[in-house]
Amino acid sequence: MNRGKYLSVFSPATTEQRDANFVDYWDFTQQHGGELFEVDRDLAVKRARLKYFQDNPVKLRTPLANPEGFYRNYVEMQDDPESLDRMTLLLTGMYKFARHEWVGIKGAWDSVPDMANSHSIEDKISRVHLAEEFCHVRLFDEMLKTCGLDKVEWVPLGPIKEKIYEQFPKFPGFLMDTPAFVTELMGVTYYCHLDKMIQTIFADEPEVCARLRELLDEITIDEVAHVGQRRNFIGPIGMKVSKALVKPFYTLFFNDIPEVGVLFDIEQMIKDGLEFDFNQLPEYMLEKSWIPSYCIA
Ligand SMILES: [Fe+2]
Ligand SMILES: [Fe+2]
Repeated sequence: MNRGKYLSVFSPATTEQRDANFVDYWDFTQQHGGELFEVDRDLAVKRARLKYFQDNPVKLRTPLANPEGFYRNYVEMQDDPESLDRMTLLLTGMYKFARHEWVGIKGAWDSVPDMANSHSIEDKISRVHLAEEFCHVRLFDEMLKTCGLDKVEWVPLGPIKEKIYEQFPKFPGFLMDTPAFVTELMGVTYYCHLDKMIQTIFADEPEVCARLRELLDEITIDEVAHVGQRRNFIGPIGMKVSKALVKPFYTLFFNDIPEVGVLFDIEQMIKDGLEFDFNQLPEYMLEKSWIPSYCIA
């Protein structure tokens, strides 16, 4: 633990600091993801990493007790969530979280400029950011496959919700930047809680437990960088707005996923979001991630 080494993600920053941090992030993200494959919505380094996992699969010692329960409830909860075992709940909840992310990025990918038409550093950063999010969905898919769930489909939301997600990235920055930042922060909070829950629920499955955590780490390392990057878009007023949005955003979003309320402490997640300062994350993750200069003590 690095207690005290880093400052709150809500720490103030000047315009000059933010400009310099965009340059620094752009440098980081190109190294981190490698070549962007625009047509495949993929990145070279992430693709190689996923291939490594796929080429070296691990399996559960004891297959899932209730795969039907997973398939019946993963898109929409049909059963009483309290009636499902914790492993099923963890996996259906994780799918639902990732599905929201997938819907959001699918809409955004088509409505923001591609790399050839990205002229500002912010646009270029955003393009690579979206490609990374597509890689996350592939990594989540691999997590489910690792648990023997190889018939998972990525199901779109209804047409109206899909349309809303498509419009979102076209909003002007002052409206879009704060919820985009809080969404990334919510991702990191959830993944940190998910990582702990995986260790508890998969305690008797050491190989799968380790693999799930490795796959999740790949995602969390990117998301930690996204938190700083999205924070960097925001000026002083927007930061106040962002802080005020944490509680309603987390509450609304997690209430939509019934599994989360059963397995996780949502109040604690809100608290973690408000207090987020990078210090709780292990050093090996931070080394591979990115933190704004004004959040380093
Ligand atoms: Fe993501
Ligand atoms: Fe993200």
